[in-house]
Amino acid sequence: MRKLILDLSSLENTDAVARKLAANLFPGAILLFWGSMGAGKTTFAKSLCAGLGVLPEIVTSPTYTLVNIYPGDWPVFHVDLYRLNAPEELDDFDREDLITDEGVTLVEWPQFLLNYLSDEPVLNLGFETVSEHQRRLSLESESGDFDILFKTLEQENSSLHKTANSLSRSGA
Ligand SMILES: Nc1ncnc2c1ncn2[C@@H]1O[C@H](COP(=O)(O)OP(=O)(O)OP(=O)(O)O)[C@@H](O)[C@H]1O
Ligand SMILES: [Mg+2]
Repeated sequence: MRKLILDLSSLENTDAVARKLAANLFPGAILLFWGSMGAGKTTFAKSLCAGLGVLPEIVTSPTYTLVNIYPGDWPVFHVDLYRLNAPEELDDFDREDLITDEGVTLVEWPQFLLNYLSDEPVLNLGFETVSEHQRRLSLESESGDFDILFKTLEQENSSLHKTANSLSRSGA
C-alpha cells in the first residue's frame, strides 16, 4: 500500500495540489473523498475537475441528484452520497450510473459505494481540517496504477520542503 500526507496550507496550495493530481490521473480511476463537513472535499474536486478540462463553475456538489456528469478531457462523474442513510438507497442505481470506466469518478461520502467496487484502481483521499485555512490530505492506494502519481507528488513535496528548509536556514 502506498501512502502520502500533504499539507494543504492555503486555498492556492489546495488548487495546485489538486491540479497536479489531476495531471496524473487516467480513465477508470476512482477517487474516494473521505473527511467531515467543510474539510475541503468539494473545493478540491473543483480544482481537480479544472485540471481535467472541466469548467470549475459547473462543478457543484450533487447533493440531490447524487451524481453530476461533467464533460472534460474525459467524462467526470462527481458523486456525493451525503444524504443517503442506508446502502439500499442505491439499489435503483446500476454500477454504470455511478462509476465511469471511460473517465474519472470522484466520490464524496463514499462508504455506501464500497459494495460496487472490487478490482478497480481506487485512490483514497482523506481530508482533515487543521485550522481555518489549512487542511491535511492523506492519499492512500493499494493499486499500482497510481505509482507514478505518488512518485510525482512525493518528489514535488520533498523539493518544496527542501526549498522551505533552505529558505529558513538562510533566514529568508
Ligand atoms: N486549504 C484549504 N483547502 C480547502 N478548503 C479550504 C482551505 N482553506 C479554507 N477552505 C474552505 O473550507 C471550505 C471547504 O468546504 P467544502 O464544501 O469544500 O467541504 P466539503 O468537505 O465538501 O464539505 P461537505 O461534506 O459539507 O460537502 C470552503 O469554504 C473553503 O473555502
Ligand atoms: Mg462537499
